Amino acid sequence: KVPPTITNEPVKAFAKGDARDWDLLRASLLKFNNAALEVPLVINGKRIYAEESGKGTRAVVQQVNPANHSQVLANVTQASPEDVSSAIAAASDAKHAWYSLPFYDRAAVFLKAADLISTKYRYDMLAAVMLGQGKNVHQAEIDCVAELADFFRFNAKYAEELYAQQPTNGAPGIWNSVEYRPLEGFVYAVSPFNFTAIAANLVGAPALMGNTVIWKPSQYATLSNYLLYTVLEEAGLPGGVINFLPGEPQQVTEQLIASRNFGALHYTGSTEIFKQLNANIQSNLAAGVYRDYPRIVGETGGKNFHLVHSSANIPNAIFNTIRAAFEYQGQKCSALSRLYLPQSKSDEFLADLAGTLAVPDAKFTPTNTSTSAISGGDLHGFVGPVIHERSFDKLAAAIDEAKRDPELKIVCGGNYDKSKGFFVQPTVIKTTNPTHKFLSTEFFGPILTVYEYPDAEYAQVCKLIDETGTYGLTGAVFARDRAAIQTANDALRYSAGNFYINDKCTAAVVAQQWFGGARMSGTNDKAGSGNILSRFVSMRNTKENF
Ligand code: ALA
Repeated sequence: KVPPTITNEPVKAFAKGDARDWDLLRASLLKFNNAALEVPLVINGKRIYAEESGKGTRAVVQQVNPANHSQVLANVTQASPEDVSSAIAAASDAKHAWYSLPFYDRAAVFLKAADLISTKYRYDMLAAVMLGQGKNVHQAEIDCVAELADFFRFNAKYAEELYAQQPTNGAPGIWNSVEYRPLEGFVYAVSPFNFTAIAANLVGAPALMGNTVIWKPSQYATLSNYLLYTVLEEAGLPGGVINFLPGEPQQVTEQLIASRNFGALHYTGSTEIFKQLNANIQSNLAAGVYRDYPRIVGETGGKNFHLVHSSANIPNAIFNTIRAAFEYQGQKCSALSRLYLPQSKSDEFLADLAGTLAVPDAKFTPTNTSTSAISGGDLHGFVGPVIHERSFDKLAAAIDEAKRDPELKIVCGGNYDKSKGFFVQPTVIKTTNPTHKFLSTEFFGPILTVYEYPDAEYAQVCKLIDETGTYGLTGAVFARDRAAIQTANDALRYSAGNFYINDKCTAAVVAQQWFGGARMSGTNDKAGSGNILSRFVSMRNTKENF
């Protein structure tokens, strides 16, 4: 049974003095530090390594530590076209036995995996995410322990509630019932580098509902994602239910979506790729490739905002602005990247923000940094690396552009260095142009653009925020004045699928803030809610006459 009461997994503080936690974490970090892991494909429960003979040639891609890019963490086997075909066959073969299991047997796999992650594998998961994805210990904790375990547990609870919903009306001599069938084809899950928890939900939600899944992890998160796969196996996941298929994205994707058995796309990543996938799937559909209309569930980018009103608690707005814009180097899809300040408060706000950013560790992290030598990065430091060289180069180019553009002025930050790791300084840029492209372009890194508005033009600035850009993911208003909150609430109805009042626009918690946005930010099916599970079932209604 799903436990009747499920609560969010507590986040460990890793504060100074937590000697046991630090010892265990140190041991896990050393393990991954000392040797690169050979990561295979897993198809139908069988591991396939690049060097195996007789199966065609397979490429190997390395995952490196973004804080120290000379350090190889994993050698990852890449799927060949034959492997992709085998994965399609495996997903099809495993389907019947998996969905025929009682729901509670499927749920038990994910509930057990959540427990294994919060206990036995906690430190290994943290180490894999910290080294591979450039997170400090707190950011790793809230991702690959808390949010991940929460997705598995709350999905089980929401699925139980969904399955219990049945037709409410009958008539004498008639029996109506609804069966929640899995989708007929396989689910293709494409997961991003930035949250291991998101990967867990991308594969876990459809599999829980009786689907079989082909999972292409991000090449920049393979270490933690493979570890997650092995935990699911230990928790009892049968072979073939989730097939782990790292590979060249375009090659793997084109082959999978050209299959008649393609049933759904469950995607988190860039808007550009998601749009392209939508177009390709629609054209395959028009050409008669599929048996069903594929379900498309996706969460993509944002140009998320904080709007500060003159009545706001300014220290609170500054604290939350720094966290939202710069935690995990601004690489959360929810991260803040545009800030609207009233002119009367702007100088005070920006001076304080720049001062705090000069020494963020003093304010934002616990004091224990004694193990920082281990990872090549800093276990607790506020500023870590960005994920890869492509991202670094794009961010550096944006900063250089800001230095040249007369409409932009760097308030603080502006440095970058990739000699050892991909480090970009938290950078705040002011613009005098309310429609400057820096206020609408997503950079996916630690760059925050600020526009200062005349206090009396608050209502117009709400309209401006709504009309700027194409996204609708997250946003926040900071105000004490209820009328100002109401104005923002009304004007920004479609500007954010997750709207915050006097809080930062990041850090949605599973089952507390249902997460996702509309417009070009995705299909808004709300991860961390029961709604998303309904996208992975296809109902059959049976009427029986007695
Ligand atoms: N759940 C993550 C956040 O809201 C993406 O920051």
